[in-house]
Amino acid sequence: MIDFKNVSKTYPNGTHALYNVSLSIDKGEFVFIVGASGAGKSTFLKLIMHEESPTSGEIVINGTETTRLRRSKVPYLRRHMGIVFQDFRLIEKMNVFDNVAFAMRAVGKPYSVIKSRVPYVLELVGLKDKMKNKPSELSGGEQQRVSLARALVNNPEIIIADEPTGNVDPEMSHEIIELLTEINAKGTTIIVVTHEHELVREFGKRVVVIDHGRVKSDASKAVDDYLGEADYADIPDYPDNVEVIPD
Ligand SMILES: Nc1ncnc2c1ncn2[C@@H]1O[C@H](COP(=O)(O)OP(=O)(O)OP(=O)(O)O)[C@@H](O)[C@H]1O
Ligand SMILES: [Mg+2]
Repeated sequence: MIDFKNVSKTYPNGTHALYNVSLSIDKGEFVFIVGASGAGKSTFLKLIMHEESPTSGEIVINGTETTRLRRSKVPYLRRHMGIVFQDFRLIEKMNVFDNVAFAMRAVGKPYSVIKSRVPYVLELVGLKDKMKNKPSELSGGEQQRVSLARALVNNPEIIIADEPTGNVDPEMSHEIIELLTEINAKGTTIIVVTHEHELVREFGKRVVVIDHGRVKSDASKAVDDYLGEADYADIPDYPDNVEVIPD
């Protein structure tokens, strides 16, 4: 379903975000993507959804070579995808209902379907009572769940979620992954970026570890090795000229 062959991405400012990534994700899989901040996780997702195009290599989505896909064709590719962006991307002028309904209108669903489907999906993410609120009236975690509802609402073939649990409490995180697991059981392919190692351990799915733009491991058993060292990996060394204040 998703096939990366020797994909590299260098941003226009010269930052190398991904090197030579080769990876296949089959229909119906559930994959966690983990790795330190700046490792290239969001870049990987942006290449799948064709928000960015690769500098070299080949990306095939559902049998279509998307590397040189024309801009005008991108909406057709995205029709099969539900995307939870790391920065939510809600429309500020619209209330919660309309933010989710918008995704259904975009694919031509009639209002008769929208008016029952949107509340149903908002209930799944625990936000039915916030339907009339604007995004600015919601907490970060609530906005994140609106973004999740919008990704689910059209029953996409693939759900791509960039840290869908980044702003919610541990219990809600668990519920969100549980919900994605249920959706996955019905055949939807799910790709989730997360920093929450506990969740990754608990759910025992395929785990792709990205490290400095490369796939460091791709398995379910290797995750413990990685998680052991990753706890320390993000802590920077003190620069020499900073005085450390004693306790
Ligand atoms: N639009 C851009 N232009 C230039 N460099 C970018 C751009 N987007 C990301 N980068 C750089 O590419 C690298 C990978 O970024 P990416 O956003 O994929 O990381 P990430 O793994 O998602 O990190 P995080 O966990 O912090 O979200 C980083 O060095 C980042 O600074
Ligand atoms: Mg990111």
